[in-house]
Amino acid sequence: MNFKEVETLPLYWEMVNAEKIALLNLLNEVKPHISIEIGTKKGGSLQLISKLSKQVYSLDIDPSVLELRALFPAVNFIVGDSKKTLPALLTKLLQDGEQPDFILIDGDHSMEGVKSDIENILTQNISKPLAVIMHDSFNPECRLGMLSADYSRNRNVTSVEIDFVQGIYSPTELAKGEMWGGFGRILFNAEVQRQEPLVKQSSQYSFEKMYSVSRHFWLRQQNFTGRIKSFIFRKYYS
Ligand SMILES: C[S@@+](CC[C@H](N)C(=O)[O-])C[C@H]1O[C@@H](n2cnc3c(N)ncnc32)[C@H](O)[C@@H]1O
Repeated sequence: MNFKEVETLPLYWEMVNAEKIALLNLLNEVKPHISIEIGTKKGGSLQLISKLSKQVYSLDIDPSVLELRALFPAVNFIVGDSKKTLPALLTKLLQDGEQPDFILIDGDHSMEGVKSDIENILTQNISKPLAVIMHDSFNPECRLGMLSADYSRNRNVTSVEIDFVQGIYSPTELAKGEMWGGFGRILFNAEVQRQEPLVKQSSQYSFEKMYSVSRHFWLRQQNFTGRIKSFIFRKYYS
């Protein structure tokens, strides 16, 4: 599959082109036997993941995702809070002697929700390479969840890059002045054991600059000058 084909996929998708390209390339490289998507919504990312994986599990808290069953007959839909459904699925796969090769985390966007999804993966015994993409690493709440996970608890984590793809200052009316998007990436390798995995934030400078004028900063009301700068920036540039 190439990017021209990805661009013409029909379902509503909450990702920008840079993220779609990165996802396409990663899936082409990993060639997953088993993929798990946490957060499916209208099926945007699922339409790509399901084309490039042999077997897919979609986890979503909203039962309306079951309407997608007709479009994705080969996908296993599991409805419920991923805090419970993800560990249950990973345990079941392990009992069957299986393990996912790819996981997309794009479900609960609270700090606790993101951290919980990551830590439920980190408790797994890894028997083959695993790539995990964490969507919305440019959102301060999600980023905090990603940064507060204890990556050292799994010695097979070889790399954590919070800004694998940098996110954006949202142009939409709904999320005006907010920071969204971006891919964090975790790589696991069963043959390599690290004590202290490196957590990289290659776009930390951009993140901090943008944060200081964002709605997130404004809402936290850190100081008066910051609030004024944030207000002016959002008024004229968002
Ligand atoms: C941003 S949307 C996913 C977008 C989709 N991946 C895409 O690219 O088009 C987030 C989804 O996560 C689901 N969600 C929210 N909290 C959840 C939770 N605790 N467990 C599982 N799914 C959750 C929502 O119902 C929603 O469908």
